[in-house]
Amino acid sequence: MASRPGPTSTQGATMKCGTLDIESIQATLNSRRIGQRIEFKAETSSTNDEAWLYADEDAFDGLVVFAEAQTAGRGRRGRIWQSHRGASLLLSIGISGQKHSIAGDWLSIIAAIAVHETISKFSDTRPTIKWPNDVLVCGRKISGVLVESRQSQSETRNHVVGIGINCLQHQGHFDGPLANSATSLELLSHRPIDRSAVAIHLLHALDQRLAHPETLNQESLRSDWLSKADALGARVTLEHNSQQHTGTIIDLDPTAALVLQLDEGGIRAFNAADTSLVSTEYGS
Ligand code: BTN
Repeated sequence: MASRPGPTSTQGATMKCGTLDIESIQATLNSRRIGQRIEFKAETSSTNDEAWLYADEDAFDGLVVFAEAQTAGRGRRGRIWQSHRGASLLLSIGISGQKHSIAGDWLSIIAAIAVHETISKFSDTRPTIKWPNDVLVCGRKISGVLVESRQSQSETRNHVVGIGINCLQHQGHFDGPLANSATSLELLSHRPIDRSAVAIHLLHALDQRLAHPETLNQESLRSDWLSKADALGARVTLEHNSQQHTGTIIDLDPTAALVLQLDEGGIRAFNAADTSLVSTEYGS
């Protein structure tokens, strides 16, 4: 379910709840890095918390933790992330800075691209990425990504990439403001959604990009992201350090910051950590 600043309640709607098949995910993946080890929790505070528990172990790099329910799921910029038990794909991936250093902001862009590909495959729709890493269909949020970074004991930066994808929710599961702002794969697809198949596709897409990070080409990531975001030329208003700025998106810079031609004059890059989008008008 999309993140928002307050709690939501679970009322009325029933959930068709196929279980995640961790064995088949692991067997089908044939992973080179992402999903070498997979952990499953029926319930946890947050899959990001679970992944951080392994930060000092060798198994941290490429570790994937799935959960069916989170009691304190978190979103970007201090928001909470709530989802009905068994409805979403809730997972976190450990990325060790010792293996190869990738900036957290680029990991967030890579995750958004992989989620975008996955949603396209399972929803028969053309999603868009909202900077930096929300995935939307027809303006409704279907997935969010939260990348957390911490210094490791060896002074490198470790990262946990947390991903939530709405899968089995029906309209009645989205209440309050989410009723008009969230959607799920089940609502968009004519076929039943198998969350294990969604997980395999997503992890494969991530593994393809992260198995050999030294070969990652920032330029091709940048243009891939820009094409999926329909971002170039979009008009946005964003908030940075409590100040609003309006302008036109002209690029994604080498740190994955959004570059705007500002209405107030000048060109400026805004980093994801300190900035939130207030409104976006994508070009047609
Ligand atoms: C956002 O849209 O603000 C990001 C939401 C990220 C939610 C996922 S669900 C799995 C992982 N565990 C968390 O606590 N958060 C992320």
